[in-house]
Amino acid sequence: MRALIVAPDAPGRLRIAEVPDPTPKPGECLIHVEAVSLNRGEVNQIARVAAGTVLGWDAAGTVIQAAAQDGPAVGTRVVTNGPARGWAELRAVDVRDLAELPADVDIGAAAALPVAGVTALRALRVAGSLLGRRVLVTGASGGVGRFAVQLAHRAGAYVIAVVGSEARGAGLTTLGADEIVTSIDVVTRPVFAVIETVGGQMLATAFGLLEAGGSVISIGAASGQATTFSPYSTVGPHRSLVSFTMRGEDGSIGQDLAYLAGLVQSGALDPQIAWRGSWERSAEAVQLLLGRKINGKAILDITR
Ligand SMILES: NC(=O)c1ccc[n+]([C@@H]2O[C@H](COP(=O)([O-])OP(=O)(O)OC[C@H]3O[C@@H](n4cnc5c(N)ncnc54)[C@H](OP(=O)(O)O)[C@@H]3O)[C@@H](O)[C@H]2O)c1
Repeated sequence: MRALIVAPDAPGRLRIAEVPDPTPKPGECLIHVEAVSLNRGEVNQIARVAAGTVLGWDAAGTVIQAAAQDGPAVGTRVVTNGPARGWAELRAVDVRDLAELPADVDIGAAAALPVAGVTALRALRVAGSLLGRRVLVTGASGGVGRFAVQLAHRAGAYVIAVVGSEARGAGLTTLGADEIVTSIDVVTRPVFAVIETVGGQMLATAFGLLEAGGSVISIGAASGQATTFSPYSTVGPHRSLVSFTMRGEDGSIGQDLAYLAGLVQSGALDPQIAWRGSWERSAEAVQLLLGRKINGKAILDITR
């Protein structure tokens, strides 16, 4: 099969090349991949991993070999997630980490869901009941952020979206943001929860905005910056800084993926695809994502 391998001498350090086909382990099925999405976390890895590595967490396509015991039949359209090797024509994937797709859910829309969508969903669950509560979403223009705004709104929260510029916040009101701000410094009223993806001083400022009993769910650090807390800023009524990983204690993500795919089908969730093109254009997509030029998700179609 062909896959997108890390190649230090190629534009964007990625090249399409022949690699061995995957061999499914027990409990895995084999899928013919049609679309994948890019996540900042894995795109950052391109600069760090060995030449020849096949990255890729999110991939959607069609089952061509079913798992022995369980899982979808050959011909089923699915969205999948795994630790790597999704950016390829074929993927072997654990049947607990996929969801069958309703017939009218587009394959590219499905590919946008796993890491960004499930992260937003699970981070909001960690925050607790949001009905009537103020929720701040940082990095709200990005992949996780745009899902978090929609799902927090759906959960009954008053949503404040922090973005880098007005242009980066385009469309967020329609998605459910009650306020869009281009600096966290203009937020003055306390919030119950923060879905925090930016890190650096954003994290410390967000913690300072918490009401008693509130929490910052620390998902990422897109800024790559360190955080400094002023003396005594972490002292006082109980507030929490909660570490987060998508897999967390909930383990496999198939059930949550199916929930999100259902929301997409009913029109209740928009995957916010901001860029879509052939995987031959991966370098362009990577550059735009790292340059904060993608308002949502970037999708690569695995063209043959
Ligand atoms: N813990 C987990 O399981 C988990 C899961 C998913 C993602 N993550 C992490 O969460 C973060 C967001 O992921 P994502 O896929 O949503 O990324 P993304 O689509 O690139 O969004 C990140 C957002 O951060 C904002 N940002 C602010 N300052 C930035 C800076 N200096 N450099 C880059 N971006 C900056 C950008 O918004 P503006 O341009 O509008 O400021 C951007 O939209 C990443 O750190 C990722 O590794 C963690």
